[in-house]
Amino acid sequence: MEKNLWVIANWKSNKNLKEALEWMGIVGPNLSKRENIKVVVCPQFSELEEVNKAIRVGNFPLIVGSQDLSPFPAGAFTGEESASTLHQYIGLAILGHSERREAFGETDEIVKQKVKQANDQGITPLVCVQESTTPIPDHCQLIAYEPIFAIGTGNPDTPENANKMAAVIKSKQDNKIEVLYGGSVNSRNVAEFVKMEHLSGVLVGKASLDGKEFVRIVRSCY
Ligand code: PGA
Repeated sequence: MEKNLWVIANWKSNKNLKEALEWMGIVGPNLSKRENIKVVVCPQFSELEEVNKAIRVGNFPLIVGSQDLSPFPAGAFTGEESASTLHQYIGLAILGHSERREAFGETDEIVKQKVKQANDQGITPLVCVQESTTPIPDHCQLIAYEPIFAIGTGNPDTPENANKMAAVIKSKQDNKIEVLYGGSVNSRNVAEFVKMEHLSGVLVGKASLDGKEFVRIVRSCY
């Protein structure tokens, strides 16, 4: 049986609407429907609605995700994007990314609150952990192991070490979770990661911005 894989594009603070739709026009028609592969695109909040629409109109095998969401419910929280509003557009939310922990002071406690908000609204939380010791909140099924040295540096972890870390993370959760790898993944190295026993896919930053490169990445997982 083929294993289930996630391939997730994290655009970070890149792409205006025009660029986002151009990417959809390149990637959408070039993906084939595979039962075992879930492909997710995570644009900025302002692009979520239109990206979602493009996927529906094109009937593309893509899921929309966000790069964050509010730790609070709907209410008087100026500037926050609540899960109760986001859930109409997204199926998944990246939470606890190292860039948010570093630049926005996001703590393990805040990540925990965000996970709760996501789960309450039926959004799958994808929690990023930087080490095997990073706390994982309850009710998380999907984790991304993303060592800081590998993010945006062109210097990925080795597939063997990522596999080892995934095994440790899974064993602490009774092996009931899926672990992805993220950090300088591209079309040349992705196959080596996804063939590892304990890895269930990849979270891709920089290399996901180029539509053609992202198609190559997904196809390397077929
Ligand atoms: P990168 O980013 O692929 O550019 O290293 C990955 C991430 O930050 O999720």
